[in-house]
Amino acid sequence: MTLSIDTKNVMPPERREFEYTQKDFEHVRDLVYQNAGITLQSSKTNLVYSRLSKRVRACGMQSFKDYLAYLEQDEEERTRAVTALTTNHTSFFREKHHFEHLVNQVWPALKKKLESGGRVRIWSAGCSSGEEPYSLVMALAGTDRNLPRWLLKHDFRILASDLAPHVLATARSGRYPNSIAESIPASLRNIWMTPDGDSMVVNPALQQLIAFKELNLLGTWPMKQQFDVIFCRNVMIYFDEPTKTTLFQNFSKKLLTGGYLYIGHSERLVGKASQDFVSKGQTIYQKRSM
Ligand SMILES: C[S@@+](CC[C@H](N)C(=O)[O-])C[C@H]1O[C@@H](n2cnc3c(N)ncnc32)[C@H](O)[C@@H]1O
Repeated sequence: MTLSIDTKNVMPPERREFEYTQKDFEHVRDLVYQNAGITLQSSKTNLVYSRLSKRVRACGMQSFKDYLAYLEQDEEERTRAVTALTTNHTSFFREKHHFEHLVNQVWPALKKKLESGGRVRIWSAGCSSGEEPYSLVMALAGTDRNLPRWLLKHDFRILASDLAPHVLATARSGRYPNSIAESIPASLRNIWMTPDGDSMVVNPALQQLIAFKELNLLGTWPMKQQFDVIFCRNVMIYFDEPTKTTLFQNFSKKLLTGGYLYIGHSERLVGKASQDFVSKGQTIYQKRSM
C-alpha cells in the first residue's frame, strides 16, 4: 500500500492549522531515528506535518509542541506517530526476478529438505501490507492446488513481520482491492484469489502458511531458529549506514549456511557482514560456509 503526499499541494506554513517549528521537526526526526532507525531528511519537513497533524488533531492537542510532549508519556501514541511516518509502498510480485530465482534455484532443494522430514523457514522482514509474503507462497505453490495442504503437513512456515500495526491488519485480512490484486499474474490470481465485490481475498490455505507478527527490526528478535531464506527488501533504504551494518550482521547470524538473502533493488550489502555472502544475482546473496 502506498502512503504518500501530493508534494505539489503541500500546505504553506501560514495556512497550517497547528504551530509547527523547525525544532518540532528535529524532535520528530530524532524520535523516528531512535524508535525505527529511519532517517528523515529535512526535505521531509512538510511530509511530517501532513502526516502528524492528523494525530495532533485526534489527540485533541493545540500544537505540535504539546503533542510531542505527550508522546514522551504515551507509548502507544508514540508507536502511532512513528508508524504514521513509515513508507509502506509495496506490490504483489515486486522485483519479480527474486521470485523466479527462489522458485527455480532455491526451492527444489528446500522441497527435498521438507520431503526428508526437515524444516524450512522463510522470513519476510518489513512485509508491509502482506503483498510480499503472499507473492512468496503463490510463487512456491505455482498452479499446484495441493501444495498448500502438503506444506501444512510438513515443517514449513513463513514469518512475515513489520513495525506498523496498520499494515499488518491488512496483511492478516488477506483482502486487497481489485486494483492492487490485478498485478498478480492471471494464472496464479485465478487459482489463489477469490473475487468478493471490489476486492479479492487470498486463499485461506495459503494464509495459514504465514504468521504475521509485529516486530521492530531494531529491537530484540524473539525467533530462536535460523532461516533458509530472508527477504528484507526496500526497508533498509531508509536506514543510515551504522544501522544497516548492524542489521546485515544480524541477518547473517539468522541465516543458515547456504541460506539466501534478498534485498531491494536500490540497496547493497554494507559492513563486515558483506564478507559472509556470495552474490548470486541482482540483489540476491547466499551465505557462505565459514
Ligand atoms: C517500503 S515497505 C517495503 C515492503 C516490502 N518489503 C516490499 O519490498 O515491497 C517498508 C516497510 O518496512 C517497515 N519498516 C520500517 N522500519 C522498520 C523497522 N525498524 N522494523 C520493522 N519494519 C520496519 C515499514 O513499516 C514498511 O512497511
